[in-house]
Amino acid sequence: MVPVNELARGYRLYEKEYNDKAISVLQSGWYILGKEVEGFEKEFAESLGDNCYCAGVDNGLNAIRLGLHACGITTGDEVIVQSNGYIATMLGITQNGGVPVFVEPDGYHNMDPDKIEAAITDKTKAVLVTHLYGQATRMEKIVEICKKHNLMLFEDCAQSHFASYRGTNTGLFGDAGFFSFYPTKNLGGFGDGGGVVSRNKELIERIKTYRNYGSDYKYHNIVLGFNSRLDEMQAGLLRIKLKHMPELLANRRKIADAYLAGIKNPLIRLPEIVEGATTNWYLFVINTEDQAGFRKYMLDHGVQTDVHFPTPPFLQPALSYLGHGEGSFPIAEKDCKTVVSLPMMDYMADDEIETVIRVVNAYEG
Ligand SMILES: Cc1ncc(COP(=O)(O)O)c(C=O)c1O
Repeated sequence: MVPVNELARGYRLYEKEYNDKAISVLQSGWYILGKEVEGFEKEFAESLGDNCYCAGVDNGLNAIRLGLHACGITTGDEVIVQSNGYIATMLGITQNGGVPVFVEPDGYHNMDPDKIEAAITDKTKAVLVTHLYGQATRMEKIVEICKKHNLMLFEDCAQSHFASYRGTNTGLFGDAGFFSFYPTKNLGGFGDGGGVVSRNKELIERIKTYRNYGSDYKYHNIVLGFNSRLDEMQAGLLRIKLKHMPELLANRRKIADAYLAGIKNPLIRLPEIVEGATTNWYLFVINTEDQAGFRKYMLDHGVQTDVHFPTPPFLQPALSYLGHGEGSFPIAEKDCKTVVSLPMMDYMADDEIETVIRVVNAYEG
């Protein structure tokens, strides 16, 4: 069976380095907010761009939650998001009392810049784009719209580490970028983790205060904070993975290039990369009309697949109070019914890649 993902493969690639780091953190006697977190924050920010800063937090959702909170998003504020994607983006808004306002995606599964202005009201405070499946969104028009309407601009980069648009890494286009280091992510740890990045150093300092009970120095609390810290073990392990990101990104690119060159089947729509954008190939997502039938066929022929994501956020029962129903955002709904993620991970053997291509090509519907 070709798995859709197998996290232990990523561990085995640098097993000794991870083991050594884990033991060194255990032996250090210092487990929360220490030199590993500081080192990771510095190295991650530097790897994204100049004049950029990072605050490590406990997961991607809390990166969004704290980031929006520190930027003043509060009760009743509207934040424009895309109608497809993952629920966590919306929860980061609702947990601040904010209201997600949806716009449809473009043909690349990302926010359609041409649909944003129609969604702006006098309550709109920000646009929060998600660079879905690892591909950077077309950002220039979005940046322009935010400037024109005096809106904050945020990026959910939980899936898009090191994906760029016209040379700028995702996370650096607006006020802040929110990252997840959940184990499946390209830069994934061995437990939960997250980070906020920004070119605004003062904002990052504020988030570091919020993540630690609102404490600016020991036993002194200037704001009502949270406990949302990245721990030393995860930060230490993430530093190892960060060092190897160029080869890890190249591994995924090699798999994606083989799929793109080898898959030829009129029933399968391959992912397209927008001009000027790069993708980190977090996922390799095709579209096909008979999602369930295709997945069963693949499984019967030894290839696991997944669906990211079967239900659009606006149809989740938890968000029913927003008043949307079936038909509210047909492009997102159609996407959810037709997307299938093929196997993609940090390492695949050539014969596994060939198996996926052969089986997809033999699919007859
Ligand atoms: C687009 C998106 N946003 C936010 C998150 C939340 O990240 P985490 O699982 O680290 O809370 C995820 C991850 O699963 C995600 O895919």
